[in-house]
Amino acid sequence: MPISYNEPLQVFRLDTPRTTYLMGLAGSEGFLGHIYYGPTVPDDDMRYLLRLEERPGTPDSNPRDRASFFDCFPFEYPSWGGGNFREPCLRVRTACGGGNCILRYVSHRVLSGKPGLEGLPAAFGAEDQCETLEITLRDAEAGVQVVLLYTVFEDTDAICRSARIENIGDAPLEIDSALSAALDMDNEDFDLITLHGSWAREQNIDRRPLASGKQSAFSLRGISSHQFHPFLALCQRGAGQEHGLVYGLSLIYSGSFLVQAETDQFKQVRAVAGIHPDGFSWRLEAGGRFQTPEAVLVCSDAGLGGMSRSYHDLFREHLIRGQRKRRPTLVNSWEACYFDFDHERLLQLGREAARYGIEMLVVDDGWFGKRDDETTSLGDWRVNERKLPGGLKRLGEELAEMGVQLGVWMEPEMISPDSDLYRAHPDYAMTIPGCSPTLARNQLVLDLTRKEVRDCIYEQISSVLRSAPISYLKWDMNRPLTDVYSGVLPPERQGEAGHRYILGLYELQERFVTDFPAVLLENCCSGGGRFDPGMLYYSPQIWTSDNAEAVDRLTIQEGSALIYPLSAMGAHVAACPSHVNGRVTPFRVRGRVSLPGCFGYELDLDKLSPEEQGLIPQQLGEYEQFGPVFRDGDYYRLASCRENHTYDAFMAVAKDKSIAVVNFVQIRSRAYRRSLRLKLAGLEERSRYRLRGSEEVRTGAGWMNGGLLMEAALCEYFSELAVLERVAD
Ligand code: DGJ
Repeated sequence: MPISYNEPLQVFRLDTPRTTYLMGLAGSEGFLGHIYYGPTVPDDDMRYLLRLEERPGTPDSNPRDRASFFDCFPFEYPSWGGGNFREPCLRVRTACGGGNCILRYVSHRVLSGKPGLEGLPAAFGAEDQCETLEITLRDAEAGVQVVLLYTVFEDTDAICRSARIENIGDAPLEIDSALSAALDMDNEDFDLITLHGSWAREQNIDRRPLASGKQSAFSLRGISSHQFHPFLALCQRGAGQEHGLVYGLSLIYSGSFLVQAETDQFKQVRAVAGIHPDGFSWRLEAGGRFQTPEAVLVCSDAGLGGMSRSYHDLFREHLIRGQRKRRPTLVNSWEACYFDFDHERLLQLGREAARYGIEMLVVDDGWFGKRDDETTSLGDWRVNERKLPGGLKRLGEELAEMGVQLGVWMEPEMISPDSDLYRAHPDYAMTIPGCSPTLARNQLVLDLTRKEVRDCIYEQISSVLRSAPISYLKWDMNRPLTDVYSGVLPPERQGEAGHRYILGLYELQERFVTDFPAVLLENCCSGGGRFDPGMLYYSPQIWTSDNAEAVDRLTIQEGSALIYPLSAMGAHVAACPSHVNGRVTPFRVRGRVSLPGCFGYELDLDKLSPEEQGLIPQQLGEYEQFGPVFRDGDYYRLASCRENHTYDAFMAVAKDKSIAVVNFVQIRSRAYRRSLRLKLAGLEERSRYRLRGSEEVRTGAGWMNGGLLMEAALCEYFSELAVLERVAD
């Protein structure tokens, strides 16, 4: 059983395939402390790591000095009060306005499977795949109860954690902070890794030594954001791609968040993740409950690659629902024609798609209302008959005759001040009474905290989808939340508005996936501004970045693949010179960069040179052949052009180890005539593998230790796919 409780020792034990997580009760007051998280240990009794002997003991054994206990005890779910001056997970104010909360163990139970989290995306698992531990803690004086949830999966080294806060008193409670999880550990010479960026430059990997004090990544933008990512990793200083100890902490959430590592006076580290406390508060009435989003912990002693593979497995098998497997190839109209299209132009794009066997045409922004630019019509989701006479229905039917499916773009959370919806319901926009709202991209955000607003938008989305043969929806979101205010909350509860917006968004997307299971959903937020695990629960793929230029994309995709499976990344061959950075890259290389993701084109197929046109069948063929290995296999990063500035290489190995594909892309010429030696990874040591197209056969151990020689290419751009197939003995 992955979860057990050693009653005499009062120690909880969670086992994943390769890791152990121990926590235990300290003192008769029942404080729950974190004991150990790391590679599997058979021992239950590691309580010495609580170091109770080194300190003045627990408060019940040394009531004179409670404060110093709280100041250093590794709380499993730290709350504010008593002397815990480090970041708390929970901060409440009771009716008197005071804010101390001292949580003690009350009870626990173990469940088969994993209960869902009400209103929130969360990992899932069947009864024979996982177990869930519920630990109840309580502060009876404050009237606060906390139920900690831990789920352990049999097939992956990930642990899901969340907390449910309950008001068991008679008066309302104000929650000022309710983070999802904390992990207290010794600082084993850790580096901190976070992801940062901006529009068109998402998911840059940032690694630096962990210093004293607090270091965080966060969003206060109401979206998970381009700027930071709801994830951090702590890794031992020398840890590399396939060696060394690494801890990952990721949050299944799409709004403002905080992930933070804090080093205290004793060099203990507290890593936390949750909804950002700034601007957040929640009124909990007597008897009420608040459920935090879920955090996902991963520990790997096989370096960053081990961590990535655990996240990939968890997200693929236990978070992404519905159409997890093959995704259709597509051509998207955005970079091909922006707002400048009509029925005939789209049909022509469709004809080109049909000619090559591209399966879908996605009509991006501009098909509705009076929208010919960014200034108008969001909220008026009726087809523009001037551009598309006969509507999406006629277009969809004519495309279907050519064997091409139809996809559409929408931005359901938005409203243009110049729209019929705004003229009829200006109050539907999220604004602060008496304050002029801030426009971004000429638009305002709808107040999704209101049911009638959600219903109105949902009606519009569903009538669009029912009006035509539509197989795919790109759900875009192009601005942060600035005027965060809910039209249904009283002034003293406005701190709930940001989170309630996200709950409204989740409810809308849940309705969508329930009512339209056959329509493939791709989330998007000006590119990768909401590329997070929360969104992945609803859409199996997310548009990774508006920057599809090959060189920049390598870095963006490397950062994304640190936690997300390749199957989650929308990746298109875009127009050239790049509309984003002006760089000129060969069509072949753009294809190879996009190949591992959800493949498509974002350009005018008509404008391609004959040579480029000639490459399309090869690209589609490679996607068909190797897509399954990239989508479902194990990911190993071999080299990073972010570090070497010259070439990028990773490989995917099928789960049954029968085939592996190395994707190599060179972006700068190397001025020496010598091949590169790439040491492969993830193969079965004793099996023999043949390099496709050659007579070279070596054992897995041979390829991994000897490596693969990649020819010296005396040119700026070069790409190669090396395929290794296991040969029968
Ligand atoms: C931002 C998206 O990231 C783009 O792909 C495109 O859909 C535009 N919005 C359309 O307005």
